[in-house]
Amino acid sequence: MADLNHLLQQNREWAARTISEDPDFFARLAKIQDPKYLWIGCSDSRVPANQITGMEPGEVFVHRNVANVVVPTDLNCLSTIQFAVDLLQVEHIIVCGHYGCGGIQTTLDGRRIGLADNWLRHVGDVMDKHQQRLNMLDSSQRASALCELNVIEQALNVCQSTVMQDAWQRGQPVQVHSWIYALKDGRLKALNNGIASAAQAAEEYRQAVEMCWSRYEK
Ligand code: CO
Repeated sequence: MADLNHLLQQNREWAARTISEDPDFFARLAKIQDPKYLWIGCSDSRVPANQITGMEPGEVFVHRNVANVVVPTDLNCLSTIQFAVDLLQVEHIIVCGHYGCGGIQTTLDGRRIGLADNWLRHVGDVMDKHQQRLNMLDSSQRASALCELNVIEQALNVCQSTVMQDAWQRGQPVQVHSWIYALKDGRLKALNNGIASAAQAAEEYRQAVEMCWSRYEK
């Protein structure tokens, strides 16, 4: 416990500073959470949703896992999406990957790391789907392209979830975005325009994939 004292101390300082700047901050947030965004990102410690988007507590609902994977058998991720869409009525779902993702690199290298190999099989599926064109790139381009393709695929998985299909069916305004973050300069980039209906998903997906190849194929 003793070695974590600095974190508790930093928390006391943060809470005091926050109250000094906005005396009602915690009282207000304790009553209701009303975020407009759901963030589905990588667990990587260098990609914290709130900080990189300049959002305060209360502004973004967050789900993170290794390599920002969305699969229809993952009750954890699906429940987060359902809670965010049905109960919180978020307006945007942002699937955000990042260049230099360890999960993506491990998959590309075919390296065994343990239990997580089973999870990263989902990234392997994305790699296999695009194998031919990925093979034409040099290794660093290939890694960056797969980081982008993985986001685009996982965003499509969000669109194809029953939660999103039902939300769009009843006319709920919620968009699904594919973003990627660069560790080297802290910049986010949008990989699609935001998918606003089930009907748009396939075409937006196709366009985002083609845009990705246009950045890497010479
Ligand atoms: Co990562």
